[in-house]
Amino acid sequence: MKYVSVSLAGVCVLLVSALTVSAVSLSVSPNLQQFFRGSSSVYLSCVDDGQTADGWTVKRTRGGLTEDCGAAPGFGRLLGSYCVVDLSAPIETFWCEDSSGQQSDRVSFSVQSDTTGVILEIPALPVRTGSDVILRCRQRNGATVAAYFFIKGHEPENKTKPEHIITNITQADEGLYSCSTDQGGNSPNSSLRVRAPPPPCQFVLRLFSHLVVFSPYCISTAVSMEMTQRDGGAQGLDEECDDVTADVTTEHDF
Ligand SMILES: *[C@@H]1O[C@H](CO)[C@@H](O)[C@H](O)[C@H]1NC(C)=O
Ligand SMILES: *[C@@H]1O[C@H](CO)[C@@H](O)[C@H](O)[C@H]1NC(C)=O
Ligand SMILES: *[C@@H]1O[C@H](CO)[C@@H](O)[C@H](O)[C@H]1NC(C)=O
Repeated sequence: MKYVSVSLAGVCVLLVSALTVSAVSLSVSPNLQQFFRGSSSVYLSCVDDGQTADGWTVKRTRGGLTEDCGAAPGFGRLLGSYCVVDLSAPIETFWCEDSSGQQSDRVSFSVQSDTTGVILEIPALPVRTGSDVILRCRQRNGATVAAYFFIKGHEPENKTKPEHIITNITQADEGLYSCSTDQGGNSPNSSLRVRAPPPPCQFVLRLFSHLVVFSPYCISTAVSMEMTQRDGGAQGLDEECDDVTADVTTEHDF
């Protein structure tokens, strides 16, 4: 019984593997969300677990059209696995996509074209819970400037600060941030996004969530596999996850 249900679960894995959400993400260098128009290039690439994700392309939408980096006029140049972009529109949004239409999370940038304006130094990519982030306000000449920091859209203290430090980030720190100076320079608003560290067994959780979405038949099979394994002895959560992952790997090796 155990072998039958395990191999059926494997078939389910093969059936849904084309539909699973990918772990591919857009890598951003420098990891900043605001830029002065014409000041610097941003290097974008598609990565999976730190490695270049083959077959994935950096994309954007503009005027209702989805464009590929390097192919659309004025949208980036390819440099190895990087898409080098000179940002110009007030807000630009990019993501990675493969030929089957799977997409990564999107990343947006704000461009400051006002010559008296300032920019807020804030990460473009989501920040891990528990980490620290230092927000600074920069002028076009690159110098940091003491500023009022708008935290999650709230009025700041009536006092300028050289920087605003958020320690031990939690989900509650998500929101809109901006800065403004005594000289009247304002930055655009940008969102700080916060992500929990990946839970153990993330792969298996992702797998199960897709089984739930795509096939009641697969759920019952997977559940019966779980139950068979539980019956087999007192195994910890980690061991169960390892077992399932091993089964999946075996099926892919066929
Ligand atoms: C900020 O404080 C200064 C004095 O330190 C005061 O003159 C000014 O009115 C205050 N502004 C606001 C918006 O409270
Ligand atoms: C960070 O925040 C978490 C949750 O609020 C708390 O349990 C932990 O002790 C904090 N760590 C530090 C170093 O302050
Ligand atoms: C930022 O967002 C807040 C809240 O939505 C708004 O009050 C403020 O005017 C915005 N600031 C800028 C510079 O767009």
